[in-house]
Amino acid sequence: MSEKKTPWQAALVALFARNWIALFGAVLSAVSALLIGVFVIIGLLQLSDSPYMGIMAFMVLPGVFVFGLLAIPAGALWERYKTARPGAEAPSDRAAGLFPVIDLNSPHTRRMAGIVIVLTVLNLLIISTVSYQGVKFMESVQFCGKVCHTVMEPEYAAYAASPHSRVACVECHIGPGAPWFVRSKLSGLGQVLAVTFDTYEKPIPTPVRNLRPSQDTCEQCHWPEKFTGDRVKVITKFLDDEANTPTKTVLLMHIGGGSASHGGIHSWHINPSIRTTYIAADEQRQEIAHVRVEKADGSVLEFTNTKASTDGHDGEERVMDCIDCHNRPTHIFQTPMQAVDGALASKRIDTALPYIKKLGVEVLTETAEAQRDSDQILERVRAYYEENYPDLYASGRETVESAASVLKALYDRNVFPKMGVTWGTYGNNLGHETSTGCFRCHNDELVTAEGEAIGGDCDVCHTVLAWDEEDPEILDQLQIQ
Ligand code: HEC
Ligand code: HEC
Ligand code: HEC
Ligand code: HEC
Ligand code: HEC
Repeated sequence: MSEKKTPWQAALVALFARNWIALFGAVLSAVSALLIGVFVIIGLLQLSDSPYMGIMAFMVLPGVFVFGLLAIPAGALWERYKTARPGAEAPSDRAAGLFPVIDLNSPHTRRMAGIVIVLTVLNLLIISTVSYQGVKFMESVQFCGKVCHTVMEPEYAAYAASPHSRVACVECHIGPGAPWFVRSKLSGLGQVLAVTFDTYEKPIPTPVRNLRPSQDTCEQCHWPEKFTGDRVKVITKFLDDEANTPTKTVLLMHIGGGSASHGGIHSWHINPSIRTTYIAADEQRQEIAHVRVEKADGSVLEFTNTKASTDGHDGEERVMDCIDCHNRPTHIFQTPMQAVDGALASKRIDTALPYIKKLGVEVLTETAEAQRDSDQILERVRAYYEENYPDLYASGRETVESAASVLKALYDRNVFPKMGVTWGTYGNNLGHETSTGCFRCHNDELVTAEGEAIGGDCDVCHTVLAWDEEDPEILDQLQIQ
C-alpha cells in the first residue's frame, strides 16, 4: 500500500461521499446516540416516567446505534469489494484486494489504528452501559406492569394497592440467579409474541404453572424461622340495614413460627422437617384428590378423597409452599362485599348515607353482571338518593357524589372487562370466607386408610374471640379501638 498523504478525516469523508451505506450508518449511529443521551437526561431529571421512553432509550435505540456502527465498516468493505472486482477501476491510491493491507510501519496507519481502538472501546462502553440499563429497565415494575398496559392492568392495579407495592414484580416472578433470569427472558419472548398477535388467554390463567418455588422468592424476605406467636385480627363489616350498622369479628390467628416447638399454622405448614405434597383434581387446584405428608423421621401419612376424580387432568404432584395459601399476596382482588366494607371502615364512604352498604354491593355486582360501563355507577347512586331521600340529596349532595365516585373507583380497581376479569375471577385461598381455601384439605372427605381426616377444629387455626358482634367486649378488654 502506498504511503497516503490524506489525513484520516479526509479518508472517512471520502468513504462517506462514495458509499451511502457507510454514510447512512454514520448518521444513524450519531442520531441514535444523541437521542439515547436526551432520553437518559429526561429520565434522570424525572421529567417523564413513560415506559415507552425506557423502551426507546434502552431497547430500540441501542439496536439502531449498533446497526449504524456496523454499517460503517460494512460500507467500507463494500466499497473495496466494488473496486477489487476484476475489471473494476481501482482508484490510483489503492491496491486491488478485498481487505486493506495494514502496515503498522506507516505513521498514518498507526494513528488510524489508535483512533479505531479508542472509538471501539468508547462504543463498547456505551453499548454495555446501555444494555445493562436495558436489562435493569426490563426488570422494572414500569416495564412489567405498564408496557402491555391492558394485559397487566388488573394485576398492576391490585399490586399497587397491596402490602407489596414497593416490591418489584421480578422479586416474586423471577427471583435471584442466572438460570431463572434466562428462563424468564425466553418465556418473555413468547409473551411478547402472544400479546402482539393477541393469542394470550383472557383472563390470564391462574395458578401460574411455572412460578418459581417460594423458597427462592418469598423466603428471600420472609424467612420461616422469623415467625412467632399469635396475631389479633379484627374484621369490620357492615349490615344491610338503613344505618349500615358495623359489626366486628375478632380472631386470634395462631400463625406460629417455622419450628414445630410451638403450635400454629406456619409452625406446621412451613416446618422444614415436614414435606407436604398434593394432587389436585382440577386445573385451579381447588379440589384436592390426594395429600401426602412426609416427615424427617421417614414416617408418611396419606389422605385420599375417593370422590375426587383426576380424570382429564395431568395429576401432577405439587410440593405445597407459601403460594398454596398466600396465592394473593399482592394481586388481591376483592369481592363487592369486601370492597364496600373496606371503604366504609376506612371512612372513604360516609356511613351516614342510608343503605349505602346494601346499595353499594348491589350496584357493584349488577354493573359487572350486565357489563355496563362503570360511569353508570355514578348515575345509579345519584338516582337512588334523589328518588328515595330527596332532602338528603338536596342538602348532602357532596357526600352522595363522593360515595358514588369511590364506588366507581372500587369497581375500576377490581373489574377489567377487556381482560375478562370480574368479581371472583381470582379467588383467595387464605381462609375460607370467599373460597374453599384451607377447607380444600381441612375437610371430612380427605381421609387416611383408617378414615382419619385432616384436623378441622376451628381452634387449630384461630380462636374466634367475637363473631359479627356489634360491640365485642373483647375489644374493650384488649383496649383495641
Ligand atoms: C409479592 C410477590 C409478587 C409481586 C411483587 C408480584 N407478583 Fe404477580 N403473582 C404473584 C403470585 C404468588 C402469583 C400467582 C398466584 C397463583 O399462582 O395462584 C402471581 C400471579 C401473577 C399473574 C397471573 C394472574 C394472576 O393474578 O394470578 C400476573 C399476570 C402477574 N402476577 C403479574 C405481576 C406484575 C405485572 C407484577 C408487578 C407490577 C407482579 N405480578 C408482582 C406474586 C407477586
Ligand atoms: C423483596 C421482599 C419481599 C418479597 C420477595 C416478598 N415479600 Fe411479602 N412483604 C414484604 C414487605 C416489605 C411486606 C410489608 C410488611 C409490612 O407492611 O409491615 C410484606 C408483607 C407480607 C405479608 C403480610 C401482608 C399483610 O397483609 O400485612 C404477607 C402475607 C407476605 N408478605 C407474603 C409474601 C409471599 C407469599 C411472598 C412470595 C410470593 C412474599 N411475601 C414476597 C417483602 C417481601
Ligand atoms: C397453610 C397455609 C399457609 C402457608 C403454607 C403459609 N402461610 Fe403465611 N400465613 C397464613 C395465615 C393463615 C396467616 C395469617 C393471616 C392473617 O392473619 O390474616 C399467615 C401470615 C403470614 C404473614 C404475616 C405475618 C404477620 O406476623 O403478620 C407472612 C409475612 C406470611 N404469612 C408469609 C408466609 C411465607 C413467606 C410462607 C412460605 C414460606 C407462608 N407464609 C406459608 C397461612 C399460610
Ligand atoms: C385450617 C384452618 C382453619 C380452620 C380449621 C377454620 N378456620 Fe376460620 N379462618 C381461617 C383463616 C386462615 C381465616 C382468614 C383470616 C384472614 O382473613 O386473613 C379464617 C377466617 C374466619 C372467619 C372470618 C371470616 C371473615 O372474613 O369474616 C371466621 C368467622 C371463621 N374463620 C370461623 C371459623 C369457624 C367457626 C371454624 C370452625 C368451623 C373455622 N373458622 C375453622 C382458618 C381456619
Ligand atoms: C393441600 C392441603 C392443605 C391445605 C390447602 C391446607 N392444609 Fe393445613 N394441613 C394439611 C395437612 C395434611 C395437615 C396435617 C394433618 C395431620 O397431621 O393430621 C395440616 C395441618 C395444619 C395445621 C396443624 C394442625 C395441628 O393439628 O396442629 C394447621 C394449624 C393448618 N394445617 C392450618 C392451615 C390453614 C390456615 C390453611 C389455609 C390457609 C391450611 N392449613 C391449608 C394440609 C393442608
